[in-house]
Amino acid sequence: MKKIIIAIDGHSSCGKSTMAKTLAAKTGYTYIDTGAMYRAVTLYALRRGFIHDNTIDEESLRKEINNIKITFGKDSDGRQYTILNGENVENEIRGMEVSNSVSPISAIGFVREAMTVEQRRMGAEGAIIMDGRDIGTTVFPDAELKIFITASEEIRARRRYDELVQKGEQPKFEDVLKNVRERDYIDSHRSVSPLRKADDAIVLDNSHMTFEEQNEWLMNRYLEIKSANEDRD
Ligand code: DC
Repeated sequence: MKKIIIAIDGHSSCGKSTMAKTLAAKTGYTYIDTGAMYRAVTLYALRRGFIHDNTIDEESLRKEINNIKITFGKDSDGRQYTILNGENVENEIRGMEVSNSVSPISAIGFVREAMTVEQRRMGAEGAIIMDGRDIGTTVFPDAELKIFITASEEIRARRRYDELVQKGEQPKFEDVLKNVRERDYIDSHRSVSPLRKADDAIVLDNSHMTFEEQNEWLMNRYLEIKSANEDRD
């Protein structure tokens, strides 16, 4: 059976990773969270003192970019975690400090080049589901299945808000909505690999879908493309 590459791109907080992980569990494919890789680079830069008052010391980061090794591990429950130079940094990369600086870090050309090389290496054997912003456009433009997921700003902000409240935080909905809008703007206006739908991507607006409906929709797209590839083999 041919092992395909599935590229899932889309806006922040639209449930890409949940859908991608569910499909990976059902198909036995490997899931790669490329946002976690940009987050790990951001954590490295913060720890080394390369980010001050929203200004990034790009030259220092450039000198060290090849020292940043990012891999993934799995805990006993099968949950994936991110490893930065041998250390499990999964919790730290999801915190506010990293979230506030990751968009500008991910807009730096040499950071994107280094991550793209790694992502292509990880996906070289196929049987991979990779989510991010530029997987179908830049990392794997020949991926057999490309999905672009979106949902309305308000619904994405509401999902993020609920997540933060569940974690015990007390955010203001207006602030969460503002952050969603800002991230959308930075992600889609940067000069290198901006977030955009690949011409051949299938769009899913999941604003009014349940988890089950989204997962079923994605499984059906996978089965269609798999049978099309088998017919061709
Ligand atoms: O998916 P996420 O929120 O964990 O992504 C974190 C940041 O990384 C987000 O600001 C967009 C950026 N990113 C990117 O530029 N390219 C990717 N392939 C994945 C994420």
